Amino acid sequence: MPHAMILGTGHAVPDRILTNSDLEQMVDTSDQWIMERTGIKERRIVTPGTPLSALAAEAATRALDAAGVTAEEIDLIILGTVTGDMKFPATACIIQEMIGAKHAVAFDLSAACSGFLYGLQIAEGLMLASGYRKALVIGGEILSSMVNWQDRDTCVLFGDGAGAVVLGAAEGERGIIHTCLGSDGAHVKLLYNPGCGSLNPPTPENTAEQLHTIHMAGREVFRHAVTAMSNAMQQVLQEAGIVPTDLQLLIPHQANLRIIEGVAKRFDIPTDRVYINVDRFGNTSSASIPIALDEAFHAGRIRPGDLVGMVTFGAGLTWASAVIRF
Ligand code: ACO
Repeated sequence: MPHAMILGTGHAVPDRILTNSDLEQMVDTSDQWIMERTGIKERRIVTPGTPLSALAAEAATRALDAAGVTAEEIDLIILGTVTGDMKFPATACIIQEMIGAKHAVAFDLSAACSGFLYGLQIAEGLMLASGYRKALVIGGEILSSMVNWQDRDTCVLFGDGAGAVVLGAAEGERGIIHTCLGSDGAHVKLLYNPGCGSLNPPTPENTAEQLHTIHMAGREVFRHAVTAMSNAMQQVLQEAGIVPTDLQLLIPHQANLRIIEGVAKRFDIPTDRVYINVDRFGNTSSASIPIALDEAFHAGRIRPGDLVGMVTFGAGLTWASAVIRF
């Protein structure tokens, strides 16, 4: 029986839209190349200097409203992010103060694009082990703050945004059925930001070499993404005793349309049962699944009783999957 269920969802994205034609003015690229290779048409980008906490608190407030839960009822806040407001303290604590969640324990979690699903499993585990009754799990990123806008290999891929869910006690069959997490530290350098920590402090030399921006071996990451996401899906379905046709909707991490289609094909899941918004938001890392989940709710793509699969992959390498009955 499930222990925790999603009571409400919310998301927030910046108003500012950066289109592929805008990028054509910035680097040697084209709308056609970006569309064919990634499926991305546009992404949302904050006005420089906007902190993650602003977007994440908005997403959290919307999730609380949707759940009919007050901030004071929240016992736990977990924020999955790699682009917090500051190195410390945790941005989850800043959000706690902004929304008035006076009684919560709050911390950040670093698992890149897997941050939201990692947070979901950890929150469920802490609710079970420590008796927390209501939790906020948020995934949010201001990736524009660590993109090298001269690097066409990466700058076309990423966007900003935040998504949140409120968790409470499960009711009957409804709730988180099963989650799987995985990591493989052998491939750290396929996707990383080497210059934001103690390894390469932000000296003028390191900054001039763009060490504080995203570095990625795109083709290698692509290969690992399809394999890891397929394996994570296989594992969660098998362990939960579910077959792909049982899923009313699959919400994959929105990194690249070709990766999403590759995973869906492997499980024979038709496109109309896969939620896709990568065309409008690009890759928002830990925010991508909770943004898609909230949109899917508002679009009537998820109804009470539906079984929804989620699967993700990110730097680390990390991956995660979940099956939830709504
Ligand atoms: N515009 C035009 N040409 C470009 C661009 C661009 N924006 N970027 C690269 N190219 C060029 C390359 O220089 C290369 O040229 P060359 O053949 O003359 O050397 C050519 O296009 C092909 O480059 P590839 O890297 O082989 O292109 P590929 O088909 O692999 O697509 C891409 C690149 C889109 C990055 C793809 O590999 C990919 O999506 N990888 C996964 C990336 C990803 O999803 N990362 C995040 C996942 S985890 C997370 O979400 C944090």
